Amino acid sequence: MKGIVLAGGTGSRLAPMTLAVSKHLLPVADKPMIYYPLTTLMSAGVTDILVISTPADLPQYRRLLGDGAQLGLRIGYAEQPRPEGIAQALLIGAEHIGGDTVALALGDNVFAGPGLPDILRSNAADVSGCVLFGAQADDPRRYGIGVADADGRLVHIEEKPARPRSSQAITGLYFYDNDVVDIARRLEPSGRGELEITDVNRVYVRRHRARLVNLGEEFLWRDAGTPDSLRDTGRRILSLEKDLGSRVACVEEVALRLGLIDARTCHRLGAAQANSGYGEYVMAVARGVGEGSPETSAGASR
Ligand code: DAU
Repeated sequence: MKGIVLAGGTGSRLAPMTLAVSKHLLPVADKPMIYYPLTTLMSAGVTDILVISTPADLPQYRRLLGDGAQLGLRIGYAEQPRPEGIAQALLIGAEHIGGDTVALALGDNVFAGPGLPDILRSNAADVSGCVLFGAQADDPRRYGIGVADADGRLVHIEEKPARPRSSQAITGLYFYDNDVVDIARRLEPSGRGELEITDVNRVYVRRHRARLVNLGEEFLWRDAGTPDSLRDTGRRILSLEKDLGSRVACVEEVALRLGLIDARTCHRLGAAQANSGYGEYVMAVARGVGEGSPETSAGASR
């Protein structure tokens, strides 16, 4: 399965924080926002990832993540000159996807919770149709909303409805089979002039090939795209990290635990950031695994 992180757009809801800095580089707790969707994809077993952003912002992402080899990943980059819709990522990424299945992660969506990697991995295997992930929304009018039948088959989906038929938000993580490239190619722009991801998902609903996995209350899901949610997401992550005694979305730790890098490499990556608590944590994790002691993390970032 190939991965795409969509990290473009203007971030206008977060101005002035985003006047000079791309939204997905802003901190959530103590790390750049993009670490969250990146580790979400890694936890699903995806290691070949395309980061899509604006021409102005892409150099910063390259500087942060490089070609991914330091984390045992393959990271490529592509430009989205204008924010012409989430589904455009599937066209920009068509060559990257090739004949494979794909996991598309929105750059401002944060997922956390022990057990999440198991759910992601099992649903990433042999995707046929599409798999969407649902979570309870406080304000359903802000999101794509879905209604599923008793078997978890999605029967209805709408984008930011004025009168929502459920409070089940469709989160910003989408697993698709290879048909999605063709579906995206045939898509017409919406009234807002964008290629809407909900329109892609609606095609799968019509074909009876859309599944909704309910993430349930035990997982944390947040769209960090507004000032309030950015603040709240940071606070929730810090409190979860305190409860678990481990960090969430620590890219080095996730790479180590997945066996993508060894303890020595992990330690070196931590040492390069040794002045921060984050860097110290990465080194401590590497030492723990290197010495063969039991894994310290309860699995938030595994
Ligand atoms: O957070 C989940 C929601 O994300 C879903 O429930 C909705 O169905 C989906 O449409 C989306 O809604 P948003 O209003 O949150 O989308 P937004 O325009 O904020 O874009 C989400 C992310 O994708 C954001 O980090 C910016 C990036 N983006 C968006 C567009 C439209 C791009 O990089 N390029 C784009 O053209």
